[in-house]
Amino acid sequence: MIFIGCDHGGFEIKEKICDYLEENSIKYSDLGTNGTTSVDYPEFAEKVAKSVVSDEDNLGVLVCGTGIGVSIVANKIKGIRAALCHNVHYAQMARKHNNANVLCLGGRELSENEALDVLKAFLNTDFEGGRHQKRIAQISEIEKY
Ligand code: RB5
Repeated sequence: MIFIGCDHGGFEIKEKICDYLEENSIKYSDLGTNGTTSVDYPEFAEKVAKSVVSDEDNLGVLVCGTGIGVSIVANKIKGIRAALCHNVHYAQMARKHNNANVLCLGGRELSENEALDVLKAFLNTDFEGGRHQKRIAQISEIEKY
């Protein structure tokens, strides 16, 4: 399951992403916000992050104006590896090397088409494991303290 959330700065891109997921029969849950009225991104980022960690197969997508705020919040939640991705290459590397489970996007930084390309790259790229697995385990160790 893909959990998706945004603030007002990411609302329009979030809607486009939901349309894409719908059209492609990809299961998702839209946790809001549902308009352009100003809201606080920590609320939505926390909801998405806590939903994602409930099952290791889950992924999340968060969109705020820059993507910075939601990425800071999501990474506070144990088990979350949120990556702010500015382009397709970042999204591929975030999956291949970092096993990122939340994609963060800047709704005011990317065009709709750019954001969809980054999303597709994130969803269609697998973690490479191997030497990177050890580093993911090291991140989990740090989370224990
Ligand atoms: C809201 O104006 C803006 O600060 C927010 O969307 C985000 O960019 C924060 O990181």
